[in-house]
Amino acid sequence: MTQDNRKPTTTDAGIPVASDEHSLSVGPDGPLVLHDHYLIEQMANFNRERIPERQPHAKGSGAFGHFEVTEDVSRYTKAAVFQPGTKTDVLIRFSTVAGERGSPDTWRDPRGFSIKFYTSEGNYDMVGNNTPVFFIRDPMKFQHFIRSQKRRADSNLRDHDMQWDFWTLSPESAHQVTWLMGDRGIPKTWRHMNGYSSHTYMWANAQGEKFWVKYHFKTDQGIECLTQEEADRLAGEDSDYHTRDLYEAIERGDYPSWTLYMQIMPFADADTYRINPFDLTKVWPHDDYPMIKVGKLQLNRNPTDNHAEIEQAAFEPNNLVPGIGISPDKMLIGRVFSYADAHRARLGVNYKQIPVNAPQAPVHSYSKDGAMRINKVSDPVYAPNSKGGPAADGERYPTDSTWEANGQMVRAPYALRKDDDDYSQANALINKVMDDAARDRLVNNVVGHVSGGVKEPVLSRVFEYWKNIDAEIGRRIEEGVKANKAG
Ligand code: NDP
Ligand code: HEM
Repeated sequence: MTQDNRKPTTTDAGIPVASDEHSLSVGPDGPLVLHDHYLIEQMANFNRERIPERQPHAKGSGAFGHFEVTEDVSRYTKAAVFQPGTKTDVLIRFSTVAGERGSPDTWRDPRGFSIKFYTSEGNYDMVGNNTPVFFIRDPMKFQHFIRSQKRRADSNLRDHDMQWDFWTLSPESAHQVTWLMGDRGIPKTWRHMNGYSSHTYMWANAQGEKFWVKYHFKTDQGIECLTQEEADRLAGEDSDYHTRDLYEAIERGDYPSWTLYMQIMPFADADTYRINPFDLTKVWPHDDYPMIKVGKLQLNRNPTDNHAEIEQAAFEPNNLVPGIGISPDKMLIGRVFSYADAHRARLGVNYKQIPVNAPQAPVHSYSKDGAMRINKVSDPVYAPNSKGGPAADGERYPTDSTWEANGQMVRAPYALRKDDDDYSQANALINKVMDDAARDRLVNNVVGHVSGGVKEPVLSRVFEYWKNIDAEIGRRIEEGVKANKAG
């Protein structure tokens, strides 16, 4: 201890250092010496502090808590995390999609809603958004979509013309864009929004019976949103508004919570349902598949080291546990590759050994070596072996989350079903769910956005796009944009 009882500063090797303030020099005014390795360690580590930010979803933060199952859904899934009474530690990260790490929290954008469940059967990640649908339905378009929302090559500016160019040439975006331009496109705080799996996943029970499911985490704080004007003001006054709100709420013991409901479709229904149940641009109307309550998720602990626990957190839709699987949703299949690849690039091959990503369940894998390996590996290092190494147990853990697939390999959109079209669910959102005031705000939001730099030929396509969703809303948008131009 130092004289005032503080711990002595050390180098990263634990060696006590003589000064926090003075480099080693030849006399008080003389040159510095190369063997001042502590000065060099300070400079060198500082120069390497930044890691690549996430490609999409760079700005965000999160907290720890737990998920508790309050109902009995064991007839639908055998996953340990969803068995009655089970309480599981979780980490959540909320985020915006298009902005960089320092961008304002209150920009209009979907919000990420990533959950890592540290289950007794390994980590289960539910990497969702605060919206039940998405802009596109084929992973081939995802990279292009994200680029269209980020910055131009020439000016390095975001560009509404580029955004609407992509959207209007991708009519499958209509439902998500309508949602985004509505009130929920800017939540008041992360505590006041829902989280959705958006995708359809599979659940399998202990008997091997399968179901198609969608997750809805409904906020217990109630839905609250910001108007465009409030959000614009906050973007200037406090660009970390949502980050601060979550942190401060947890610090004062005001723990936010969400109730998990599932929509559950019997496996065979998928063949005959009137819309493709795996199309990510569509919801399953609640009248068709009602909400089934499962349990409660609560956040109650802030990170103490944002870099170690949030920036280095790696959420990936491929982290699935027995009793939970993917579905034929092409986007989800693409994501099952993309995230682990991003993590290897962003964090290094052994990213699952970073404590926040490490499971609470024991790891008996055959992964070996690579940069920054920390876990101890022991022989045998191969399988099969007769030396007592881990052995896969297909009887206890069968590959049961599968479905039948057959056909010629093609590059083609999903085959259309009776009620599959790009516009009717967007229209239902406008006419069945929104009231007059919400419709007015929708029109104003679109008019404001489009008036911010959308030019011909994209502009005419914008009017067409909205008229396809709803003739009256399209007419009002055209009128509003033209009035702005004339003014
Ligand atoms: P319901 O009337 O049963 O449900 C309407 C849903 O819309 C509720 O989940 C509600 O969420 C949500 N909602 C309310 N206001 C807004 C808003 N301004 N922006 C976005 N969502 C809002 O209808 P259906 O299930 O038949 O769906 C009708 C339309 O509602 C869909 O086309 C879709 O656009 C939208 N929707 C549907 C969802 C679903 O899973 N079926 C989920 C979310 C939206 P809450 O109860 O939390 O207020
Ligand atoms: C982040 C890819 C669609 C939600 C990311 C990242 C990549 C990615 C590479 C950065 C990961 C990292 O560096 O940690 C893709 C691809 C998609 C897709 C290829 C489609 C084919 C979606 C959809 C959702 C979603 C449909 C929601 C339902 C998220 C969230 C994050 C994220 C929440 C942030 C994760 C975190 O908090 O760390 N995505 N994405 N993505 N994506 Fe996607």
